Amino acid sequence: MTIDGAGTLGRRIAAVYAGGGSDVRIFDTSAEQRQAAKDYVEQHLPDIQEALGLHPDRVGRVEVAADLPGAVEGAWMVIEAVPERVDLKTEVFGELDRLAEPDAILASNSSSLPTSRMIGNVKHPERVLNTHYYQPPELNSVELMSCGETHDGVIEALMQRIPRYGLVPFRVRRESDGFIFNRIWASIKRECLMVVQEGVAAPEDVDEMWNIFTRPGIPPFRLMDRVGLDVVLNIEEHYASVRPGLSDGPRELLRQYIDQGRLGVKSGRGFYDYGEPS
Ligand SMILES: NC(=O)c1ccc[n+]([C@@H]2O[C@H](COP(=O)([O-])OP(=O)(O)OC[C@H]3O[C@@H](n4cnc5c(N)ncnc54)[C@H](O)[C@@H]3O)[C@@H](O)[C@H]2O)c1
Repeated sequence: MTIDGAGTLGRRIAAVYAGGGSDVRIFDTSAEQRQAAKDYVEQHLPDIQEALGLHPDRVGRVEVAADLPGAVEGAWMVIEAVPERVDLKTEVFGELDRLAEPDAILASNSSSLPTSRMIGNVKHPERVLNTHYYQPPELNSVELMSCGETHDGVIEALMQRIPRYGLVPFRVRRESDGFIFNRIWASIKRECLMVVQEGVAAPEDVDEMWNIFTRPGIPPFRLMDRVGLDVVLNIEEHYASVRPGLSDGPRELLRQYIDQGRLGVKSGRGFYDYGEPS
């Protein structure tokens, strides 16, 4: 299988599939990101296998490909994880449809965009769908959503296969801007941003209270830092475009951090300081 876009999520998904025994090829337009993704997989694979209970006969081979045709050759599935922009994803899906094997599944990891918006250049939409991953290995659910023309057999086959990788698949029952849990999370996250933007609380206070009121996990501001504040902003912009009336406050707060280069864990600083960029 192939990962197209090897940033925060692409490299995690690559590690999960390799950990479950599938050979993985990684492509990214940035040579630096390609190598960083390979390093990430090599470093984290044993921990990911342990967390997800993966004991395949052999670990998947992980390779980096410098061009897209080479990356998708022979792949049974291609997972797109490029930035959250509909124009870019439309272009990428057009290329994948042209270059990938005729029976390859083409999946988008978009956080908020339905694949129906990305198939303008695709001749075979019956093999395209959303597969939305969170932050595996801790958050190991995957939501599968049709592009409107996805062959039912493709969704069924993935529902059967995905548990092999220690992941829990959920079928999204109709097209949605955003998925099942991240829509729920969107409202929680938005109010978290709002209380901080209004000066009611500091990010640390929200996270500490969250830990009191919910079972321990990754609290909201730590999680947004891990996701990347630029990615959170893109997602919020999309929600704002389809839901008129949403307050601009949360997006203003995100822009303030982004303008200072504070993108979260990947830039070394976000709501929290992490030292070196990862
Ligand atoms: N970060 C998260 O926690 C998370 C969770 C679920 C879904 N997603 C979604 O996954 C996608 C990627 O998000 P991310 O956080 O990994 O972003 P990111 O910015 O960390 O990574 C994106 C990668 O895509 C590469 N890229 C850019 N243009 C490309 C192209 N044309 N072809 C190939 N590679 C290209 C970039 O070099 C970069 O390495 C987005 O759609 C996002 O909404 C992210």
